[in-house]
Amino acid sequence: MPHISKRLSQISESQTVALNSLMARMRREGKDVVALGAGEPDFDTPDHIKEAAISSIKEGFTKYTPADGIMELREAICAWLTKQYEADYSANEIVVTCGAKHAVYEGILAVVDPGDEVLLPAPYWVSYPEQIKMAGAVVKVIDSKQENGLKITAEELEAAITDKTRLLILNSPSNPSGAVYEKEELDALVRVIKKSGIFVLSDEIYDTIIYDGRKYTSLIGYKEIRDQLLLVNGVSKSFAMTGWRIGYLAAHKDIVTAVKKYQGHSTSNPTSISQKASLAGLLGDTDFLKTMNKAFTERRDYVHKRLNSMKGVSCILPQGAFYAFPDLSFYFGKKGIKGSMELCGYLLEKYNVAIVPGIAFGMDNNARLSFATSMQVLENALDRIENGLTSLL
Ligand SMILES: Cc1ncc(COP(=O)(O)O)c(C=O)c1O
Repeated sequence: MPHISKRLSQISESQTVALNSLMARMRREGKDVVALGAGEPDFDTPDHIKEAAISSIKEGFTKYTPADGIMELREAICAWLTKQYEADYSANEIVVTCGAKHAVYEGILAVVDPGDEVLLPAPYWVSYPEQIKMAGAVVKVIDSKQENGLKITAEELEAAITDKTRLLILNSPSNPSGAVYEKEELDALVRVIKKSGIFVLSDEIYDTIIYDGRKYTSLIGYKEIRDQLLLVNGVSKSFAMTGWRIGYLAAHKDIVTAVKKYQGHSTSNPTSISQKASLAGLLGDTDFLKTMNKAFTERRDYVHKRLNSMKGVSCILPQGAFYAFPDLSFYFGKKGIKGSMELCGYLLEKYNVAIVPGIAFGMDNNARLSFATSMQVLENALDRIENGLTSLL
């Protein structure tokens, strides 16, 4: 057996591996499995973005770039943040990364020392706890309540802060719940963040996928915590560009310089061609965002209504992103089902429908359904879920 370092052996494999392999096996056996697990828009990358990538290849823009990304892209990111949120960031406060996921990891590495505590509201995106552990830090989960819309309150944040707390990770709109923090809720959280002096990493990767005409409030608008803020965003979800791997971190220039150094020795730079494509996305027409959101709204309404009409199921209305996160705990204890993993296993095995157990997001009462798929698939999947749950009664 080869020696595997402590750093990497402590990483948990995704909790959903067993279910994914079961699904793969069922599909190999020719079973018709409907999956609502996707974490990416089902829309194609817009043509003008693809064209920019093709031109950059033809023009030979295929070599290394500066470690923190090309100046034009960093400037375009600053302009985008100004347009969206009236932020005043300059290019030396931006580092372009290989996807938002890496921006989160590098942000954590930049400000957290081994042994520091990182506050993580649950439900949380699956990669945060593992990234915190890889940085040698300690995960401190703050559980949110269904009656508070699966968001934490300022009081809960304040109570969780100790003298070891270095960082809070916030994710709004949330993967997995679709919850979005309102301005008043953020005002209260910011007062606690400011007073305590901790850093806050705000993962706003779903900021443009917002429903009901709501105006999204970004933490970048709070000048009083400018030096404490690490803002993460990218083009993956907004521009339907998950495979292009471009994200960014906006932060104090010393944090950005530290990340640039690390990046220079690890990934070198994000792909040159993808940087040009992202530039075209940020500078180009954004009408397709409206088209995408219109389709997501229709699906969200449908999924939310269907779920809440099922006996014992309650689901908050997703206000952003493309996930619903119903509480299914009413079915625990029925026919020996103990938690979200077993319930999702049962739905997959017996009813050929795959959803993600809430335990993977730190909330066992729930499960995640992605509605980044067609209405037809959603109708089929929800029929199967309903039949599966009903037969447990
Ligand atoms: C909350 C959240 N942050 C970050 C990411 C990763 O984004 P990227 O594909 O740009 O690395 C995801 C992707 O699922 C996500 O859901």
